Amino acid sequence: MKVIKTENYEEMSLQAAAIIAQLVKDKPDCVLGLATGSTPIGAYKELIRKHREEGLDFSKVQSVNLDEYAGLSPENEQSYRYFMRSNLFDAINIVPENTHVPCGLAEDLDAECLRYEELIAALGGTDIQVLGIGRNGHIGFNEPAEEFIVSTHVTGLDESTIDANKRFFASEDEVPRRALTMGIGAIMSAKTVLLLASGSDKAQAIKDTVTGEVTPRVQASILRFHPNVIVIADKAALSLI
Ligand code: GLP
Repeated sequence: MKVIKTENYEEMSLQAAAIIAQLVKDKPDCVLGLATGSTPIGAYKELIRKHREEGLDFSKVQSVNLDEYAGLSPENEQSYRYFMRSNLFDAINIVPENTHVPCGLAEDLDAECLRYEELIAALGGTDIQVLGIGRNGHIGFNEPAEEFIVSTHVTGLDESTIDANKRFFASEDEVPRRALTMGIGAIMSAKTVLLLASGSDKAQAIKDTVTGEVTPRVQASILRFHPNVIVIADKAALSLI
């Protein structure tokens, strides 16, 4: 694991965007694995700036997102599809048909997970997988558990995740209790993993990930077995190491 320490969120975002932009330039038809949450928003803003001001071209890029809430339509402002459109896709020249997010409204969620898994395989996996991290060490919505789940699956959300994510909803009751998430297999098959973290509330999760034992109780710790992980974290997120 390569750990890059930055002064603050802005610097973390710029460094992350620089790595993603370089990949897009080197391999215009790359597959980007993307994440939601507040952490990557700054990097997405910088990618939008690079598109507008420097002509960074996403016209051949494919994207696959990590996860989606079960039961939310793509038009729901809290859905991750909506998040991706408003924070990145609508502001760059990526082709909408080339952007992939699990469908939270699928009648048969297990079938949707299978479709998504096959889609990732058909794309040849991701060239880079952007990750945030939950306070409990989750990646995507792979919550602390007794095992690592390899494939895309439906999962229940941890109490701490519901608590952390309620800030985006009108009330805690409105936070969906289930989600579809890429499993550990697709994340681990990314050619490069870019794990971003900012703020002291991520410090314990980052410490456990980078220095603790590899355990499904801290799902991000599995990344220690990946040959090419770049952690970009600010001082506050690295304060316990
Ligand atoms: C969410 C997402 C994760 C994200 C994490 C951290 O629940 N499923 O993909 O990395 O929680 O979110 P944030 O970046 O807002 O702290």
